[in-house]
Amino acid sequence: MEKEALIYPSILSANFLHLSKDFSSMIKAGIKTIHYDVMDGLFVKDISFGEKLFKVLYERYHHKLHFDIHLMTEEPFRHIRQFLKLGGSDFTFHYENTINKLSELKELRYEFPYIKLGIAISPDTDVSRILGIASNFDQILIMSVVPGASGQSFIPASVEKIRRLAHFRNDNHLSYLIGVDGGIDDTTGPMCLREGADYLVTGSYFFSSLDKTAALNKILRKDL
Ligand code: DX5
Ligand code: ZN
Repeated sequence: MEKEALIYPSILSANFLHLSKDFSSMIKAGIKTIHYDVMDGLFVKDISFGEKLFKVLYERYHHKLHFDIHLMTEEPFRHIRQFLKLGGSDFTFHYENTINKLSELKELRYEFPYIKLGIAISPDTDVSRILGIASNFDQILIMSVVPGASGQSFIPASVEKIRRLAHFRNDNHLSYLIGVDGGIDDTTGPMCLREGADYLVTGSYFFSSLDKTAALNKILRKDL
């Protein structure tokens, strides 16, 4: 059976005045996982949201939705521990600021064997840098825009990174998921899926679409 691709809406693009409405429309459209972008104003320029909002959303929606937490923060391991206390279990942090601290990864795995850990690479980071450590992760997230803001255009060089990661996984019998985050729409999404991506994060495209189910079907090419 062909594997089902996964779409994770990034609530950075949701309407903060009507979050519960946006959550209802995601659930109605069949979304199973949302992408929660944590930005600390240090690793990236802006501050988004953190533990407080997560607590409220998790308590209300965890029986219907998974939370994929993307930590664009200077101290991701400290934040992981905070989010773990609140129920979080799926985390992605960045290669660029953790490469010298990966011993902390081992400690986390030992203490919390059930959690899912992912590593993200920014557009300027060559994919060959993470191949040697890829087997330590449940998922690898290719940033197809500069981290820190939604609504940017997809960087075409990301496609080659997906291809490399998919080949490497195949050649080495590994099982990490490949995700792509940034500028995903009904043109770039299908392109990434063709190259071997397993999940796609979509912010502005998804939330600006009036018909969420149609938007998903267009990314997944189910409308053809
Ligand atoms: C960017 C964030 C993304 C962003 C995606 O730094 O990590 O998750 O919200 O938004 P779009 O799909 O609009 O590029
Ligand atoms: Zn993200």
